[in-house]
Amino acid sequence: MTGTTLPDAQQPDAQQPAWFGVPVADELVLRTLPGAVDYLADSLSRRRGVTIVKRHPDAVRISWAGPLAELAEDRYFSSAAVPLRPDSEILAVLGETTFRVGDIGPERFELIKELEDGRGWRNDPRDWEVNVERRGDELVAEIGALHTTRRFGRLERLPASTTPVLAAVLTRLLKVEPGQTVLDPFCGAGTNLVYVRAMTEAGAVLGGDRDRRALAAARKNGRYALFQADAARLPFADGSIDRVVANLPFGKRVGSHRGNEQLYPAFLRELDRILAPKARAVLLTEDKRLLRTWAHRVPGLRPVKEVVLASGGAHPSAFVLTNRTNRPSSAANRAKQGTDRTSPGPNPGTRR
Ligand SMILES: C[S@@+](CC[C@H](N)C(=O)[O-])C[C@H]1O[C@@H](n2cnc3c(N)ncnc32)[C@H](O)[C@@H]1O
Repeated sequence: MTGTTLPDAQQPDAQQPAWFGVPVADELVLRTLPGAVDYLADSLSRRRGVTIVKRHPDAVRISWAGPLAELAEDRYFSSAAVPLRPDSEILAVLGETTFRVGDIGPERFELIKELEDGRGWRNDPRDWEVNVERRGDELVAEIGALHTTRRFGRLERLPASTTPVLAAVLTRLLKVEPGQTVLDPFCGAGTNLVYVRAMTEAGAVLGGDRDRRALAAARKNGRYALFQADAARLPFADGSIDRVVANLPFGKRVGSHRGNEQLYPAFLRELDRILAPKARAVLLTEDKRLLRTWAHRVPGLRPVKEVVLASGGAHPSAFVLTNRTNRPSSAANRAKQGTDRTSPGPNPGTRR
């Protein structure tokens, strides 16, 4: 085990601009992922000052009243844009700022001049705070300070790392209760673990991966215990883990479908072994048929939900699994036999 206490890259940005504190009334279009719109809309509807104007396949349009600092806390949107209107209150509070204008057509140069002369903004395509682009039939100004990385800090990433919004959705589906032990046995750079720490009151948060380089990236991203292991042979006692979240190898960029034919059944049996009674697992994959097949075949697991998402050209599903309640847990069986191992680990001594 290589667990340690680390700086948390996902603390809200201490450098939040002062204008985040100024109350404004305006419209915003918040970008999310296809499949995640309901989660974003639900999260927004719990906030004061939000009225949902329209749902798009990958965005929600809202009217907002209040300081943007409150909206900036929401983890289900990746970027935000304001319709480019003369009376926009958000664009007014930005003050003198930098901007770029995308490929909006013949009026591009006229608009650049208008924004420079009218608003006092400086055209700087490489270091912009406002990015003007066309969305459908309107011009919008994307606000740099409302990007995920600006709001929550930049994370170390691997080529197949989970995107932040995806990690937020997986974390929500996980329904972590205070103090519970959460494990990601395919943790990669640790994105899911960072989100579990930020969005829940989990107790122990544990990440495993068989690749040392992935663990090195995860170590830079947050505060959790890390260990190197094959997900089919986890160093945990039977029935010791409350929640498991993972972005599995899809069999494309990471692993292969052939490899998954061995890995998925072996991992799901191991999952069944380590899950505590009333546990829950949320597994993301694009190798869906294989996951579905084995989630039904492993006797202790019960698939309860499949949420279809989309990210970076892929169309994975998040599968939610629980344990079958009509079956005594393997932990209970072991306890009856007097062989219970109660420590949730990770404990390399229990590695088989
Ligand atoms: C899709 S990536 C995980 C991405 C991760 N959530 C992140 O944000 O970076 C899958 C990870 O599974 C790891 N992996 C593949 N096969 C494994 C196995 N048999 N046991 C443990 N980890 C494995 C890979 O090294 C990779 O880091």
